Amino acid sequence: MPVLRPLQSILLTVVSSLPLCAQDGKTLFTQHCAACHLADRQLVGPSLVEVSKLYTGKLDQFLAWCIEPQQKRQGVIQMPPMRHVGEGNLKLIHTHILAASKGVKEVKVKGLDPFYASPSMRKRPQVQRLFMPEAGPAAIAVAVNETLHYCWDAGSCRLRYIWKGDYIDGWAVWKGNGNGLAKIQGDVLLREERTPLPYPKAKPKFLGYKLVNGLPIFRYRLGSVEVLEEILPTSDGLALERTFTVTGANVPTNLTFTASDKVTYSSKKGSWKGTVLSTNPHRNGRFAVTITPKN
Ligand code: HEC
Repeated sequence: MPVLRPLQSILLTVVSSLPLCAQDGKTLFTQHCAACHLADRQLVGPSLVEVSKLYTGKLDQFLAWCIEPQQKRQGVIQMPPMRHVGEGNLKLIHTHILAASKGVKEVKVKGLDPFYASPSMRKRPQVQRLFMPEAGPAAIAVAVNETLHYCWDAGSCRLRYIWKGDYIDGWAVWKGNGNGLAKIQGDVLLREERTPLPYPKAKPKFLGYKLVNGLPIFRYRLGSVEVLEEILPTSDGLALERTFTVTGANVPTNLTFTASDKVTYSSKKGSWKGTVLSTNPHRNGRFAVTITPKN
């Protein structure tokens, strides 16, 4: 369960770093329950509206559940026991849950997808090591903004595909069963067949990536050159700006991109012949290409 494990360790860190002082129900709820329960909609666990319906006037049953949660619903993880919170604190949490759900209308979420439901998961950009379709086990999924996303394969050091629409349905990964592949939730605009760089025989070596403003700059070696590659949103957010900076011996003058009827390629510098970009060899192996989805 690749996604579950980090969640549990985050929870443990939060729990173990709590100061020991008198607390109110809201703070206690935030510390112990909010990672999985939202007021108005299902997240990992049911909404507080649903919990209130089940446990108004039933404090003892509420405590019993929290101390020893059961496996009740289909397709969800088992809630971790909350005995360590203490009965006194759980009572305060119970009062808070009833108050916090008063007058709140339940929102039905499409499917049960913690990647969308949790505010931290909704943040953009987002960079995740995930098991992705049509990619090796070292795939990295990147949500550049709300609508443009790509999958970059650190095993073969190349872009695999770009898609537009929703990001991924992480539930398959989250619940840790099935084949655990994330499902992409949109329209694939481009599937790149090979690296645009002209080194067909070179074996790529991934050298890591660093994040700048939340988005990765990939670094890898291909034959005699070292490459920095980044894919950023254009200022209007509607297209992607992909930049290669190539250094070393035998820097290329041509890049060959994979044709797709769903995108157009353009660049401020260099000249195009079909999907081949030629640039002045004195420009230090820097190529900047704009990839624009066609409407
Ligand atoms: C790691 C995630 C997680 C955390 C943290 C968590 N819960 Fe849950 N909770 C769940 C899940 C998942 C379910 C649904 C389990 C099922 O139905 O099998 C659930 C269900 C519940 C229910 C409904 C029980 C029922 O009869 O249907 C209550 C009440 C509840 N949680 C209270 C709490 C309280 C109080 C806290 C904090 C002290 C808390 N939970 C923390 C995941 C969590």
